Amino acid sequence: MTIQDRTTQDRVVIFDTTLRDGEQSPGATMTHEEKLEIAGLLDEMGVDIIEAGFPIASEGDFAAVSEISKRAKNSTICGLARANQKDIDRCWEAVRHAKSPRIHTFIGTSPLHRAIPNLDMDQMAERIHETVTHARNLCDNVQWSPMDATRTEPDYLCRVVEIAIKAGATTINIPDTVGYTYPMESAKIIRMLLERVPGADKIIFATHCHNDLGMATANALAAVEAGARQIECTINGLGERAGNTALEEVVMAMRVRNDILPFQTGIDTTKIMNLSRRVSQVSGFPVQFNKAIVGKNAFLHESGIHQDGVLKNVQTFEIMRPEDIGLTAKNIAMGKHSGRAALRAKLKELGFDLADNQLNDVFVRFKALADRKKEVYDDDLIALVSDEQSNDAYEFLQLKKLRVVCGTEGPQEADMILTVDGVDHHIDATGDGPVDAAFNCVKMLFPHKANLQVYQVHAVTEGTDAQATVSVRLEEEGRIVTGSAADTDTIVASTRAYINALNRLIIRRQKTAPGEDVKTVSYHGE
Ligand code: KIV
Ligand code: ZN
Repeated sequence: MTIQDRTTQDRVVIFDTTLRDGEQSPGATMTHEEKLEIAGLLDEMGVDIIEAGFPIASEGDFAAVSEISKRAKNSTICGLARANQKDIDRCWEAVRHAKSPRIHTFIGTSPLHRAIPNLDMDQMAERIHETVTHARNLCDNVQWSPMDATRTEPDYLCRVVEIAIKAGATTINIPDTVGYTYPMESAKIIRMLLERVPGADKIIFATHCHNDLGMATANALAAVEAGARQIECTINGLGERAGNTALEEVVMAMRVRNDILPFQTGIDTTKIMNLSRRVSQVSGFPVQFNKAIVGKNAFLHESGIHQDGVLKNVQTFEIMRPEDIGLTAKNIAMGKHSGRAALRAKLKELGFDLADNQLNDVFVRFKALADRKKEVYDDDLIALVSDEQSNDAYEFLQLKKLRVVCGTEGPQEADMILTVDGVDHHIDATGDGPVDAAFNCVKMLFPHKANLQVYQVHAVTEGTDAQATVSVRLEEEGRIVTGSAADTDTIVASTRAYINALNRLIIRRQKTAPGEDVKTVSYHGE
């Protein structure tokens, strides 16, 4: 069944671009394996179209889009291509393996964007006709986007959309590339295109909104009210600058406000929380506490009045149930007497279906944690599993032992045993604080030039015995990697996060040329 067949008047197609537009945000680079994992979760969740990458941008993008295309069970797999034959051919080479492939080609149509390739209106119209025709000769399912549509002259927008439809585009995406529009205008553009463009009733209009003014979700929903039937979005709203429309926000808005937004999606919303956590983990972008739907505080009630109301009738202060997005209603603490079966059941409830060997590793760490901490909460378990999943199969560097001396009298000292490629090394170093001292030990045993760009610490639960999750981001010659770790000891978590990032850097050095993660491919170039 094609997307067109599945789309009825009240069905909104969900197009997820976490792996393309989302991954484009500086520092959010994911490994090949992580991309495959996220694509698998999106497919399972019921995302109609996964934009898996920009195949011409790098060998890594090409390999990921090809492999995701081969593995996808239900989702259509889409790749991005600029308006030239080389990009489109490369994109097709990658997506053609999918049961349902799509080519997405685009060109900037606003005056500012037309000026860069130095094309006048007629020349650009000709280019659109040629490239969409070429894509359509390769693939039945072609999406075309006039980049910066919301700043394109309305008459010209109608003209180029008509050309793309005549050349065979089956979806026309209207991007608000710089997050400039507002809801009434977003709706007006879709209405104008539906009214003025011949053939507009035969294709699907999509909306692709950036969040520079914080209106991406509102703009996307306004476009849907006006007749768009595809929303482009990312998990956690990941994306360049202020990000994109968040998948969880549009899907839950249509569900909760079905009275005024009477549209259906095929999304299994109970998978939202797990995807949100995983994307946050692999991209190294933490979710802000007060983020709609998936923020840590989204279902917490602090004030006495709110708590009292919720206890009497949960609907007094909750417009959706935590279970709707896969959050367990009960946060029953586990302790050191809990067994493997209970742990498996609990993890399943939290959205983690682990293989036996992974469960064994998590179980050992859970027992160790339960020995140190009286009660192990859901958030502790999530941190533990995420930590386990973020470790790569082979760890060149492993922390064996760490002791630090810290306090008001410096210098702070660290004493460490680090396993480097299977051999234990003992070292001690001083530093400006215990974290600095521990990092200095690692640097002495594994000299490198990577810059520490981000170092963040979060307490997983309340209390002084809470686990800390630490994320670090390193950059070396344009390669960007993130690492994370969780432990009740903040210094241990910090050191393990640093080592995790270095292990990823080692793998990245073997697989990619310098500068690979800083995507130099220009949106306007050939
Ligand atoms: O924001 C944008 O315009 C894009 C296009 C490539 C569709 O992401
Ligand atoms: Zn975009």
